[in-house]
Amino acid sequence: KIPVIIDCDPGIDDAMMLTLAFARPELDIKLVTVEAGNLTMDKTTYNTLSFLTYINERVEVAKGIEQPMFRKQEVAEDIHGEGGLGNVKWADPSFEASERPAIQAMVDTLLNAEEPVTIVATGPLTNIAALLFAHPEVKSFIKQISWMGGAAVGGNMSTVAEFNAYVDPHAVEFVFRSGVPIIMSGLDVTHKAYITREEMADLSHLGTPFAEKVADMMNFYTFTQSDTPFYVPGFEKQIRVHDICAVACLIEPEMFKGDDYFVEVELNGSLTQGATLVDYTNRTGNKPNVHVLHTVNREAFIELFFNAVTTIGKK
Ligand code: BDR
Ligand code: CA
Repeated sequence: KIPVIIDCDPGIDDAMMLTLAFARPELDIKLVTVEAGNLTMDKTTYNTLSFLTYINERVEVAKGIEQPMFRKQEVAEDIHGEGGLGNVKWADPSFEASERPAIQAMVDTLLNAEEPVTIVATGPLTNIAALLFAHPEVKSFIKQISWMGGAAVGGNMSTVAEFNAYVDPHAVEFVFRSGVPIIMSGLDVTHKAYITREEMADLSHLGTPFAEKVADMMNFYTFTQSDTPFYVPGFEKQIRVHDICAVACLIEPEMFKGDDYFVEVELNGSLTQGATLVDYTNRTGNKPNVHVLHTVNREAFIELFFNAVTTIGKK
């Protein structure tokens, strides 16, 4: 089994990432830490506990850092809803967040594991940056960080920045410089891992209350692209489930293609903060620090996701 720590900010697609992670026997989930990101920490913590209660998983959940390192906090309630999981109510949490703060829980988990642990991170990287800053000694206990965030080309929070990178670019840059191996599932690949509204209708026909709730939650997502020459046909019919990629690429690596590049983050640009600069022509001559995914077998991805929803629905 692959030992993992999951760091997330649920968030609709974070909840779907948890679905895949807990559905699969390949992962040994040792700890879930919560980021502030899509919403403030109180809400992302509540959503994590509520969702895990519903799917009947009682792993330790530890609260992380409340604010980005330097930037003013910005959340994404317009995308995920005021509560953060669309209009769906999962369950009243039957357990509480851990007494240990996330950083301490990560350190203890890493140092006690029998083999290096993979960190799956699907929010801004504030917790992970804090971990590596305060405890550089844990680096050799981390196998890799599989992060959803960034983009080689184009953004979704600004013209050039993806949300997770935009929210805490300093944290992302710090993690990118840490020397820990990183897999980046940025918009380049996650925009190709979409589910259509028609496929989502099939999902609700799976017939379990869980599948219906999932479809309901995912349909909440709306994507508007104004009427511009840059409009991608069908964009509004494609539901993007970004965060799932960060787990899918660990379970089924052959489903994805990527390459190693040197990547750094724009920290100072007044218009471009949080842009992840993927040096795909190697103009800087710097050694690669990130494995950047760019291609996915969409059909296989959808099957993986549907199977996960079916599995959790039977639990
Ligand atoms: C990322 O931003 C968040 O809103 C999603 O949960 C995902 O992690 C996509 O840009
Ligand atoms: Ca997320």
